[in-house]
Amino acid sequence: MSAPAKITYTSTSGDLEEFHRQFDEALSDVRAEAGRSHPFYINGQAIQSDVEPLIDRSPIDTSLVLGRFAAATPAHVASAVASSRKAQPAWARWPWRERIEVLRQAAAIIRDRKYELAALMSLEVGKSRLEAMGDAEESADLIDYYCQQVEDADGFMRSMSRITPVERNTDVLRPYGVFACIAPFNFPLALSAGMSSAALAVGNAVVYKPAEDTPWTGLKLYEIYRDAGVPPGVFNLLIGRREEIGDPLWQHPGIDGVVFTGSKQVGMRIHSGLSGRWIKPCLLELGGKNAAVVLATADLDAAAEGVMRSAFSLQNQKCSATSRVYVQREATVPFLDRLLERTRAISMGDPSQRDVFFGPVINDRAVQRFEQAVAQARSEGRVLLGGARLRGDAFDRGHFVAPTIAQLPLSSSLFQEELFVPFLAVGEVADLDEALHETNRVEYGLTAGIFSGSPADVTRFFDEVEAGVCYANKRSGATTGAWPGAQAFCGWKGSGSSGKGGCGPYYVAQFMREQSRTVIEG
Ligand code: UN1
Repeated sequence: MSAPAKITYTSTSGDLEEFHRQFDEALSDVRAEAGRSHPFYINGQAIQSDVEPLIDRSPIDTSLVLGRFAAATPAHVASAVASSRKAQPAWARWPWRERIEVLRQAAAIIRDRKYELAALMSLEVGKSRLEAMGDAEESADLIDYYCQQVEDADGFMRSMSRITPVERNTDVLRPYGVFACIAPFNFPLALSAGMSSAALAVGNAVVYKPAEDTPWTGLKLYEIYRDAGVPPGVFNLLIGRREEIGDPLWQHPGIDGVVFTGSKQVGMRIHSGLSGRWIKPCLLELGGKNAAVVLATADLDAAAEGVMRSAFSLQNQKCSATSRVYVQREATVPFLDRLLERTRAISMGDPSQRDVFFGPVINDRAVQRFEQAVAQARSEGRVLLGGARLRGDAFDRGHFVAPTIAQLPLSSSLFQEELFVPFLAVGEVADLDEALHETNRVEYGLTAGIFSGSPADVTRFFDEVEAGVCYANKRSGATTGAWPGAQAFCGWKGSGSSGKGGCGPYYVAQFMREQSRTVIEG
């Protein structure tokens, strides 16, 4: 038998026929389970609530109800926080090796259930099969990578030097207590598993709120931790509406820190509101307005392929997505020809089906943002491709909009604002100087890519670009595809708060505070 597929956002290996066979099977299992009612969980107990449940609909076909989820209220937030506070001290006292063992078990369970998880994410988010499997595989790799960090640091306990012969000095990093973990819809498993496992691995408890659009994947993560042996109360799951429980969760005085991935607007609000009585850790991964720079010396086929992939995979709903391109004037025509040709060739449709690359956006609000951006682009420049909702049979059932490319004057605000829809703004620049100036002229600083045949240009780009995740000549995705242990995902400026990224070597330590221990002996 050939090797099972290992799929990341940028690579596949192994037997893809076998992959599709297992994916088909998982998809029919998930569809068979759709439409059920689900509770959320506090202290290991299933909780129902009196408020209107959340109806989880697939963005591919909004008549497909994936599940009905009991919706938490602020009173449930209080009881989840209380439960986590109660459970945390014992969890922190577990020998770190045992905690790591439980979390590695969670990673193993994810690998075991990866087809089911991927099929579910395909339906719940509108991910293609490969993107969905990438999300599942990344989740397991993230957990393992963070466990490895604890192991490599020997549990974050180390001896320090003696200043006098009678003292014994130890430095320990210790958990803060209870983290609120608030996750977005776009990588509903990987980002949730990444943020929460780092917090848990070092002895924090977590109150977890998945995005309103992806409660089912959130519930699956709860089940994974439970089945792996995370004790009741250490990981509590609150499903609910943003406006009902979002603020009450991070504002709760029993929360010791927040880890959040989502919009800049919400992140800034959390950051400025969190630390009333003292400064609490607030780890934010926010938006991006990620540029790809294409210079005349570039391999234009690689550039067009890399930009198309990063602009339109997952319908541009990645924080890392390429949403603007600055192309050097001499290369504009040949680059755009290649980009348009590749974009026209994109297979669109139900992304849970094999070989479909491009699916729907997540909800009506995203469609509206798309339509506004297109109207603005028509008045300021030229829409070269797309520019409308997709219509006809299958498309009418979900939130489908066309992959869209617009050529715009550099002054357009469409180069500045994060849209999170498949809209790519293209501008012309004279040279690398101007490209860098434009690239850095936004409030975000997440990912950036350059295509150039000159190593000196690449070095200069890396040195001068204001972004935490930088790529050169990446055909598989100009600005996307970071992987645990390979690319730290650190947002600069308006894209993050802590200067250290998920997927990177310094991530886990941020969930702890330092304690120095001096014992005088003799
Ligand atoms: C995100 O969308 O918040 O590098 C981060 C990538 C993905 C990004 C996920 N790992 O493309």
